[in-house]
Amino acid sequence: MSESAKLSFKGQDYEFPVITGTENESAIDIAKLRASSGLITLDPGYKNTGATKSAITFLDGEEGILRYRGYRIEDLAEKSTFLEVSYLLIYGELPTQAQYEDFSKEITHHTLVHEDIKKILEGFPSNAHPMGVLSSMICALTAFYPASLNPNRSEEEVNLSIIRLIAKMPTFAAWAYKNEMGHPVNYPDNSLDYCSNFLKMMFALPAEKYDVDPVVSAALDKLLILHADHEQNCSTSTVRIVGSSQASIYASISAGINALWGPLHGGANQSVIEMLEAIKADGGDAKKYLDKAKDKNDPFRLMGFGHRVYKNFDPRAKIIKKAADDVLEKLGVNDPVLEIAKELEHAALNDQYFIDRQLYPNVDFYSGIIYRALGIPTDMFTVMFALGRLPGWIAQWKEMRENGEPIGRPRQVYTGANERDYVSMNKR
Ligand code: SDX
Repeated sequence: MSESAKLSFKGQDYEFPVITGTENESAIDIAKLRASSGLITLDPGYKNTGATKSAITFLDGEEGILRYRGYRIEDLAEKSTFLEVSYLLIYGELPTQAQYEDFSKEITHHTLVHEDIKKILEGFPSNAHPMGVLSSMICALTAFYPASLNPNRSEEEVNLSIIRLIAKMPTFAAWAYKNEMGHPVNYPDNSLDYCSNFLKMMFALPAEKYDVDPVVSAALDKLLILHADHEQNCSTSTVRIVGSSQASIYASISAGINALWGPLHGGANQSVIEMLEAIKADGGDAKKYLDKAKDKNDPFRLMGFGHRVYKNFDPRAKIIKKAADDVLEKLGVNDPVLEIAKELEHAALNDQYFIDRQLYPNVDFYSGIIYRALGIPTDMFTVMFALGRLPGWIAQWKEMRENGEPIGRPRQVYTGANERDYVSMNKR
């Protein structure tokens, strides 16, 4: 029996259907709200508003559950690989051995980028933030593949764009780093797996032999899996709304990279390390900074803590925290900020302010500590987040396109001046 919700306004009753998803989440379908009542809803930050129906990722913020296409994040992080998870998110099912080999081979043979892209890269000063370089180079793909601008492209052409994005993003990410270091870029090595190839492009130097540490490559693969999708977060919603205008997938992903950059979103992993470093430089007094985070007159926030949806532990944070211990031990790295992070976490989890607001560590709280142990510089952390989130953005863009969703165009409540006549400047 289908459910419904009633609204009473100015003595008139209105009834709207309620839809229920496969995990028993319910939503009022207000598609006819304005036409029937003249009313719209107002929900800054869309905290209570569903933008779409999606079959890609399910998360339960109260229970700390995260699943990609029904598979638990804990199982995928432990047993799968980033490319297999990318296939799952984008095409909806885990690949057979043959499908995986085809997918992997396709990606390997698209890792190279047009030499003219280097002219764009060389236009950036070495102090350019790698996220700005990355989003620019991804958007530049529209110039090298103009067919991508046709919104009504064939499925084969769309799929080729998807393969190109997954294949070339590591190359662009590594090149953004090399630009910052003033080093010559490295070309992809197709004899290596996805993460090993990225690490070699990042860290190999002309004068030295570079061997990828399997511990580092495995840790990176797990981190990319943990970041691969997260339903309708800020950057994914950006990708969907840009794609809803029938802009190319490259333009949509470039927009997503820019939305992720902000310190309240993917940029938090960089801000966490900067915060921990500042606490360490200031004597390592975790309680002092906890008090700053609680002080409404202090703009300081405990970066890596809190989440719009998770009101329990972010399951990814739990996995990353354990991986941080494992990786640092295997690599023999002793990072003092890890101890400060653990002290801060313990203090916050036992502090009434954080308990009352259900503020727990999120995915960004520990990820920077691992990236640092892998030798990745702080301002590349959000680039790593983008590398991981790419298959999720692609899957969401593809779902929006396949479902024929309309162009996104929210309403507003106008609070400005009422009608008034123009007065010429000499009479004001
Ligand atoms: C990501 O959406 C996703 O899924 C994102 C993500 C993904 O995978 O895509 O999970 C990745 O973006 C993780 C979040 C990374 N950001 C940070 O770590 C930045 C620090 N955290 C916040 O600024 C904040 O918690 C947000 C932005 C993450 C969530 O903010 P909300 O949901 O808008 O909550 P809010 O700002 O309204 O906070 C509610 C209360 C407020 O206090 P009161 O006004 O009720 O007194 O909690 C307080 C806030 O001041 N609060 C914090 C805090 N986060 C919230 N106080 C201190 N430190 C914090 N970190």
